[in-house]
Amino acid sequence: MTSEPSVAGAGSAPSGKPKKREHWASPLGAILAAAGSAIGLGNIWRFPYLAGENGGGAFVLIYLGLVFTIGLSVLVAELAIGRLAQANAVTAFHRLGKPRWAVIGWLGVASALIILSFYSIVAGWTVAYAGKMAAGAFTAEGTQAADVFNAFVAQPLTPLLFGAGFMTVTAVVIWRGVSRGIERLSLVLMPLLLLLLVALMVRALTLPGALDGVAFLFAPDFGAVDFDTINAALGQAFFSLSLGLGAMLTYGSYMNSAHNVGRSAGAIVALDTGIAISAGLVVLPAVFAFGLEPGAGPGLVFVTLPEIFAQMPLGQVFGTLFFVLLAFAALTSTVALMEPVCAFLIGARGMRRHTAAVLTGMVAFVLGIPSSWSLGMWSGVTLFDMTIFDIADYVTAKLMLPLGGLLIAVFTGWVLGGRIEASLAPQGGGGVLVAGWRLVVRFLAPVAIAWILVSGLLGG
Ligand code: TRP
Repeated sequence: MTSEPSVAGAGSAPSGKPKKREHWASPLGAILAAAGSAIGLGNIWRFPYLAGENGGGAFVLIYLGLVFTIGLSVLVAELAIGRLAQANAVTAFHRLGKPRWAVIGWLGVASALIILSFYSIVAGWTVAYAGKMAAGAFTAEGTQAADVFNAFVAQPLTPLLFGAGFMTVTAVVIWRGVSRGIERLSLVLMPLLLLLLVALMVRALTLPGALDGVAFLFAPDFGAVDFDTINAALGQAFFSLSLGLGAMLTYGSYMNSAHNVGRSAGAIVALDTGIAISAGLVVLPAVFAFGLEPGAGPGLVFVTLPEIFAQMPLGQVFGTLFFVLLAFAALTSTVALMEPVCAFLIGARGMRRHTAAVLTGMVAFVLGIPSSWSLGMWSGVTLFDMTIFDIADYVTAKLMLPLGGLLIAVFTGWVLGGRIEASLAPQGGGGVLVAGWRLVVRFLAPVAIAWILVSGLLGG
């Protein structure tokens, strides 16, 4: 780690030492991989249930506002830092700034492990649900989807087995290298998922009573907004765009100067937001049409969708396909959560890729066991009224990711300054956009995130 190549050339291949760093096969491949990271359970599972819990319209509007200002800017920052440093997150901050900035990378490694721990459990549910749909578990007269869900997640062993299986597949993908396979997989599966989502939207929106769900999602009631709503929206913006822990930074480190960071970021944000809103337009109209409870929590999508499929021609087929595609969307995200940890173990600790993948997978799996059990036999173990699963989600999405984003914004705006701007607009173009971005990373993002974090903590 001593005689590193100069980083001045914004991702140009290091000339002196022939230490090769893997790169994306093409700019489109890079966008697809980053979009694959962003699009996942965050859009289809987490966004609809958070919108439901937080009163709908106002939450959605605040979310959109945060995504297109702070979210987009921090995404550009992460990709650009990675591309400039050509290194994992810990090494990147160390190399571009003073050693103490590496704390952002450490915080990120911890966040990635915790998120991966409960995310892989939920990903396991999607695989199990693909099986349940195929077996026709929801077609029998009088089956209550909510009972099926609660009984499934409360089991001590089965969800863990699915979670372990999912973690194993993730580790195998990491083992073989991210750019091989995952790029191509995303190319086929993401358009398919989008298509199916549109079909589901048509079915959901034509259910009697569905328009109440549309009104819920888009008619804001700002009277009900408190800091918790804003903190939830901020956390979801970071979670959904894979920001704040160095995941996008790591993917940016596999880019070179041929990749346009700004344009890639715009495409990723547009795709990610489009999918989240579409998922909201499937789930909430159905919630209202079936007289379910919008604030039902993490089970919402697993309860609502089987009810929609039951009312669709070929519902069993579409249902199976949907959960299979959702599992793949989750896989491109678990890969993106595991990669920053492995890139660190490989780049800064000299570990071999397969050892890093196995180690990270095992640690994250063990960390996830209490989260899974907290939906069953450990449901009574709570702190501030939150179960272990809730705490893992809260601490990462609402605290660690925004804190990471704040530090990344400050680092980019105040420490890197002109260096990073030169890498964003090598020909000196894009003046207005770069100037706007500079204002956000220097002022808006740090101040707004600090304000939301402090108020959220003080307000309880
Ligand atoms: N963004 C993914 C989703 O919405 C989850 C995810 C992948 C993630 N990598 C991340 C979240 C990094 C935070 C940070 O499902």
